[in-house]
Amino acid sequence: MKGIVAFDSMYGNTKNVAEAMADEIRAQGHEVAIVNIGQTLKFDDDGDFILIGSPTRMKQMTFRTKRFVRKARKKYAGKPGAAFETTLRVPADPAERQKASKWIDNAAGDKIKAMAEEGGIKMYGEVLRAEVVGTYGPLMPHTLERSREFVRRFLDSLEAERP
Ligand SMILES: Cc1cc2nc3c(=O)[nH]c(=O)nc-3n(C[C@H](O)[C@H](O)[C@H](O)COP(=O)(O)O)c2cc1C
Repeated sequence: MKGIVAFDSMYGNTKNVAEAMADEIRAQGHEVAIVNIGQTLKFDDDGDFILIGSPTRMKQMTFRTKRFVRKARKKYAGKPGAAFETTLRVPADPAERQKASKWIDNAAGDKIKAMAEEGGIKMYGEVLRAEVVGTYGPLMPHTLERSREFVRRFLDSLEAERP
C-alpha cells in the first residue's frame, strides 16, 4: 500500500510526529509520501490511505489544514484515513484538567476527523493526541514511540478489513 502523511507545523513538533509516522509506515513495508501543508497543497491522489495532522491553535486546526482537508476529501473519499494533532499537555490533576479542558478537548484532531468524515473519508476511530511541554514544545517524552504505535494499530485495522 501507499500512504500519504500530511501535516502543518509552526514550531516543528507536528512535523516530528508526522515524520515518525511516515517512518513507521515505511518500516511496515509500505510506500509513503509526506506533504508539508505549509509549503504545498499538491499531493498524490494515488495513495491507499491518508493521515492528516495539525497543531491545535485556539482549539482549531490551522487554516491551511482546513483548506487541505477540503481538498483531500475530494481525492480520498471512500478511502481510509486518520487524524492526529499536537496539543498542550493534559494536566494530571483533575481540577487543572477541568480548567484546561476548553483548550484541549475536541481540538484539532477531532475536528479534522469530523470534517474528513463528513466528506466521505473512512476515518479511523482513534485520533492521535501528541502533547507538547509548554506552548511551543518540545514533545512530551515517548510521543514518537506512541505515534509509531498508533500507526501500527491503524495499519492493523486496514488489514483486518481486507477481504
Ligand atoms: C497562538 C497559539 C494558540 C494555541 N492554542 C492552543 C489551544 O487552543 N489548545 C492547545 O491544546 N494548544 C494550543 N497551543 C499550543 C500548540 O498546540 C502547540 O504550540 C503546537 O502543538 C506546536 O505544534 P507545532 O510545533 O507543530 O507548531 C497554541 C499555541 C499557540 C502559539
